[in-house]
Amino acid sequence: MTNTVYDCKVIDLPKISGRKGAITPIYGNIQVPFDIARVYYLYDVPGGESRGGHAHRVLQQLIVSVMGAFDIVLDDGKEQRRVHLDRAYYGLYIPQMIWRELENFSSGGICLVLASATYDECDYIRDYSEFLRISQTPWIV
Ligand code: TYD
Repeated sequence: MTNTVYDCKVIDLPKISGRKGAITPIYGNIQVPFDIARVYYLYDVPGGESRGGHAHRVLQQLIVSVMGAFDIVLDDGKEQRRVHLDRAYYGLYIPQMIWRELENFSSGGICLVLASATYDECDYIRDYSEFLRISQTPWIV
């Protein structure tokens, strides 16, 4: 069964806040439905810039705008959905085989990504027509 844009969920993350600020802890298999194997973050992205433009064959991710804001355009090969992230206590869960583009970065924005696996270029699909072909014939992923 292939994932659709409706399998991408905005998850409410815990927020422990007080007079001196807030903390958001995230555990694998509790807030996110996978073991967390890698954490990375995008920063120094010029205001208005875009990133992404790919899908992953097996990688699952949780994407959090820990500072600033950006939009994520999700695409399953049939439907598209746009999600605006602008809070450090919301995470967007993206399962495998969803094309994503990150757009409209605010300057100074920081995008935190929790990933289910270590970096593997072979897991990327960077060509949209290849993504469409694979998403229509999921048994060849
Ligand atoms: P990429 O995932 O293409 O960035 P984006 O989709 O946000 O534009 O990664 C950009 C470069 O960084 C690419 O050469 C691969 C490298 N990279 C790593 O070496 N390790 C990582 O964990 C990630 C996410 C990227």
